[in-house]
Amino acid sequence: PGAPLRVAARSALAQNWAEVHFTYAGRPCTLLRLPRPVPGGLSVGGTHYAAFSRVCTHLGCRVNLVRDPEVLAFAYNYRPPGDDRHPQLGCPCHFSVFDPLRAGEAVFGKANAPLPRVRLEARGNDLYATGTEPAPPAGG
Ligand code: FES
Repeated sequence: PGAPLRVAARSALAQNWAEVHFTYAGRPCTLLRLPRPVPGGLSVGGTHYAAFSRVCTHLGCRVNLVRDPEVLAFAYNYRPPGDDRHPQLGCPCHFSVFDPLRAGEAVFGKANAPLPRVRLEARGNDLYATGTEPAPPAGG
């Protein structure tokens, strides 16, 4: 686990699916504001966050938040089931998809392992990264 790192003021993530990129323990990471709580995420005053490594668990390319369902459908060839129609973390190398609302689980493509999570803590108005951990087993 690395030292605590201030990632962003909570006010910097003004709406759901707002995103802040940061580097933690030498790794590119993303902090997301989410519409509902997720395992391993952080909820503060009715607002939900989670942070993940952006290093794809297939071969290590960098994942990006894919907001456009058309891009998911036509570039990735992934059409999420009804409940999962929301932005996803996608890898441009071989089109793996990781679902932030499923704690970073690999839901499509070549990757099998979830994206490692970054533990979050709220200190006053700021969000801090305080460690990394493997995600829980799928369905756990
Ligand atoms: Fe991400 Fe292959 S490196 S899908």
